Amino acid sequence: MAFVHRVGFVILLFMVSYCMCKRYEPTWESIDSRPIPGWYDEAKVGIFIHWGVFSVPSFGSEWFWCYWRDKKLRPYVDFMNKNYPPGFTYADFGPMFTAEFFNPKQWVDIFASSGAKYIVLTTKHHEGFTLWGSKNSWNWNAVDVGPRRDLVGELATALRSDSNLHLGLYHSLFEWFHPLFREDKANAYKTNYFPTTKALPELYDLINTYKPEVLWSDGDGNAPATYWNSTGFLAWLYNDSPVKDFVVTNDRWGLGTICNHGGYYTCADRYNPGHLLKHKWENCMTIDQKSWGYRREAVLSDYLSTADIIKTLVETVSCGGNLLVNVGPTHDGRIAPIFEERLREMGQWLKVNGEAIYNSTAWRAQNDTITPALWYTFRPQEKAIYAITLSWPSNGSIILGEPKVSQGQTQVALLGYKQLKWEPVAAGGLRVYMPQLSPSEMPCSWAWTLKLTGAS
Ligand SMILES: *[C@@H]1O[C@H](CO)[C@@H](O)[C@H](O)[C@H]1NC(C)=O
Ligand SMILES: *[C@@H]1O[C@H](CO)[C@@H](O)[C@H](O)[C@H]1NC(C)=O
Ligand SMILES: *[C@@H]1O[C@H](CO)[C@@H](O)[C@H](O)[C@H]1NC(C)=O
Ligand SMILES: *[C@@H]1O[C@H](CO)[C@@H](O)[C@H](O)[C@H]1NC(C)=O
Repeated sequence: MAFVHRVGFVILLFMVSYCMCKRYEPTWESIDSRPIPGWYDEAKVGIFIHWGVFSVPSFGSEWFWCYWRDKKLRPYVDFMNKNYPPGFTYADFGPMFTAEFFNPKQWVDIFASSGAKYIVLTTKHHEGFTLWGSKNSWNWNAVDVGPRRDLVGELATALRSDSNLHLGLYHSLFEWFHPLFREDKANAYKTNYFPTTKALPELYDLINTYKPEVLWSDGDGNAPATYWNSTGFLAWLYNDSPVKDFVVTNDRWGLGTICNHGGYYTCADRYNPGHLLKHKWENCMTIDQKSWGYRREAVLSDYLSTADIIKTLVETVSCGGNLLVNVGPTHDGRIAPIFEERLREMGQWLKVNGEAIYNSTAWRAQNDTITPALWYTFRPQEKAIYAITLSWPSNGSIILGEPKVSQGQTQVALLGYKQLKWEPVAAGGLRVYMPQLSPSEMPCSWAWTLKLTGAS
C-alpha cells in the first residue's frame, strides 16, 4: 500500500514538473499542441464589439476607408461627395469619434445581461486607429485624437469590477494604408518593417497592459505567418506572458493559418458548419447582417431577430462551437437599443435554458433524425441529454428519434417548467407530450429545452 502511494506520488511529481517545464517552440506543431484553456469551451457565448473611426461615417461597412479610397466603390464615393467637402480625408473623421456617451459600466451591464461569458473588443481594426494610447500609433489613437480616453482600459476596468466576464481583445495585424505595411508588401514581404515597428510592439503592449483572456487576431493582409513572426509571438504568449495559463487565441495568424493553426478555429466569418468539428471552433456573426461596424442606414429587416440569434446559438453549441455575437456601437459611445434588446432577450432565454448551453459538450448526435430543427447537447456531469426544439409542436407532442430510453428510468422535463409524460416509439426514440400552456405560463420564447435523464 505504501509502495503504491509512493509510486503515485512520484508519478504526480513527474507530471507536475513536466507540465511546468513544457515550453512551446516557435513552430506550428508545438503551438498547435497547446490545449485550449477549459474556461473557453465552458463559456459558449461571447459578445464581439466593432468600434473605431469607421463608427463616425457609420455607413456601409467598417471597411469604409478601403471601399472609398482603395476600391472606389460607387456608394462610398457618392456618400463622401454628397456629404463632405472636397479634400476631406479619412483622418478628418478622427476628431469626430467623440464617445461622449460612452459609459463602460452601462456596456458591461448590457453584456452581462445577455448571458455572455466573454467579450471581444476591436482594439485596432484595419484602419489602424487604436482604442488605447499606443506609443507606436503616431497619434492615430483614441487618447490623442477624438475621445482622448483609454477606451480599452476603461472597458477592461469596468468589466473586471462589475462582472465575471472574461476580457477579449481583437487586433488586426495589417493596416490598409500604413506606409510601412505598403512598403513591405511592395517588397513581397521580404522586409518586415511594419511587424517589427507596429504590429508586434502593439501586440506585446496589449497583452502586458490589459492581460486579456482572449486574443482575437485578424487581418493577415495576405502575408505569411513568417512575415508576422506569429509563432515567435505565440511561443512568448504561451511560455512567458502574464496571461500564459489562461489566454485563448484563434486561427488568424497569417496566410493559410485560418481553420488550420493556432488556438480555436474561426474558419470564416459567420461560420456555422451544421456538423460536429474535431477542433474547438467559434461562430463569429453579426446582429446587423450587413456590417460589423455601426450603420446608420440599417433598416429593421437587416437585423437578426432574437429567434434567429437563438437558432444560431443552438446550432453552434450543438456542433461544439462558441457563438460570438457582434454589436457595433455608435461614434458617440452608445449601444443602440435594437442591439441592447437583442442581447437582453438572448439573456432571458439563457436564464431558463443555460443549463443546456454552458459547460455542455456535443452529444453523439447533433440534431434529430426524425424531427427537424431539434438540436442536442449533453452534460457529462449529470449524464443529461438536452433536446432543444426551435418550434413548439402544434399537435401536442414531439418525437425524439435519437435517444435510447427505458421505462422506469428515463425522465423528461421541460426546462423552466416540470416533468413531462412520454412514451417509447416502436421505431426507436420517444414521444414527449408537451403541456398546454398559456403565453404567460411559457417558460421562455424562441426555443424550448427537453432534459432527458436515464437515457442514452
Ligand atoms: C520573433 O519572436 C521571437 C519570440 O518572441 C523573438 O525572439 C524574435 O526576435 C522575433 N523575431 C522578429 C523578427 O521579431
Ligand atoms: C462550469 O464548470 C466550471 C468548472 O468546473 C465551474 O466553475 C462553473 O461554475 C460551471 N458553470 C456552470 C454554469 O455550470
Ligand atoms: C441534421 O442531421 C442529419 C443527419 O441526421 C443531416 O443529414 C442534416 O443535414 C443535419 N442538419 C440539419 C440542419 O438538419
Ligand atoms: C407532431 O409534430 C411533431 C413535430 O412538431 C412530430 O415530431 C410528431 O410526430 C407529430 N405527432 C403526430 C402525432 O403527428
